[in-house]
Amino acid sequence: MTTYILRCITCKKEFEPKPGLYYCEDCGKIMGTLEVIYDYESLKADASIKERLFYNKASMYQFDFLLPTESKLKLDEYVGGTPLYKFDLLGLKDVLVKYDGSNPSSSYKDRASSIAINKAIDEGNEILFCASTGNAASSLAMLNAHTPMKTYIFVPAAIPAGKRAQLEISGAEVYAVEGTYDEVYDLSLDLGLEKGWYCRHAAINPYLLEGKKTGAFEIVIQNNFEVPDYVFIGVGDGTVVSSLYKGFWEFKEIGLTDKIPKIIGVQAEGIPAIKEAFEKGKPYKPISISGATLADSISVGKPRDVIKACTYVEASGGYFISLNDAEILDAIKELGKTGIFAEPAGAVPYGGLKKLIYEGKITKTDKVCLVITGNGLKDVKALEGAISKTTFTAEEVIERFE
Ligand SMILES: Cc1ncc(COP(=O)(O)O)c(C=O)c1O
Ligand SMILES: [Zn+2]
Repeated sequence: MTTYILRCITCKKEFEPKPGLYYCEDCGKIMGTLEVIYDYESLKADASIKERLFYNKASMYQFDFLLPTESKLKLDEYVGGTPLYKFDLLGLKDVLVKYDGSNPSSSYKDRASSIAINKAIDEGNEILFCASTGNAASSLAMLNAHTPMKTYIFVPAAIPAGKRAQLEISGAEVYAVEGTYDEVYDLSLDLGLEKGWYCRHAAINPYLLEGKKTGAFEIVIQNNFEVPDYVFIGVGDGTVVSSLYKGFWEFKEIGLTDKIPKIIGVQAEGIPAIKEAFEKGKPYKPISISGATLADSISVGKPRDVIKACTYVEASGGYFISLNDAEILDAIKELGKTGIFAEPAGAVPYGGLKKLIYEGKITKTDKVCLVITGNGLKDVKALEGAISKTTFTAEEVIERFE
């Protein structure tokens, strides 16, 4: 069994893991998020680890030596192991494109949901709950459809139809609440913790980041243990961006690689909360702003993993940037020309790269990886106005090709 402890991101106090322990009470729910710390020295000494790792198509559980769960679900085999394409893009050669829209529920969030479900089983729970901008919830609902546990889902009423359909079809109990994600999050967290349900809120349950970091592990092994110079990722609550840093950091810590890429967190200009918190500088503080964007998955004004996100991105030498909705729409359309259909939050890494090339901050010799976190079919409405609605009669078609 893999051993680990929990450590507060702010006061560094260490805790023995126990059911129901999600954050450091001295520092609170946002300042006191916990890191999962493994025995890196022993792992570094284990020479067999590198030989065991697969280059392609193996699920994220090939990394069980750095994961905190014991149980194994049938679907685990299919979570992660997503493609890493190499494309010539925007004048750069061999841009790595990690496409997580090919997970079972079509988003990066499956990596965290799978951990949540296994952990809930490990700890003997019967109910899981989740507040989400859509993907975390639909992912939890779909993966958990295969277990006897019940799922309570809390989402903003305005989530895209594709994500709502995934929730309904999976048999989860869905509460589509009128309000923003930030409001729904507070409502469900208070309720769920009081009731003692298992919490699948990535920003507060420290184990969920552990699932998400496997994306970084896969990028490394699929790229023959070469670490890119830059990794671009969409940012809402801040857990995915934090997880990528932790994944690259851990592989370096156990001696599998020798560097960490600069992580570039891409936010929506309409609601760039973590970018603002980061630019205010250290010590990083919680932030709450309001705003809107067509990229619903990253429409977060009160990010819960803001401290880790700022701390880790700074440690990587990276930073945060933002795109307006027109740039996000262009990113979806241009990425589509490579054969990848991303939802708005999934396309922002492409738009971010385009911006930094234009600003001269990324040049032709830089090795870049874009992490595409969600499938475009989840939110087709975002493209309204950009998709042709032209129709033809059969006669018109025949005439056209005569
Ligand atoms: C497709 C997609 N990309 C990016 C993100 C951002 O992840 P985080 O909220 O951990 O920053 C999300 C979160 O819901 C998402 O669904
Ligand atoms: Zn603390």
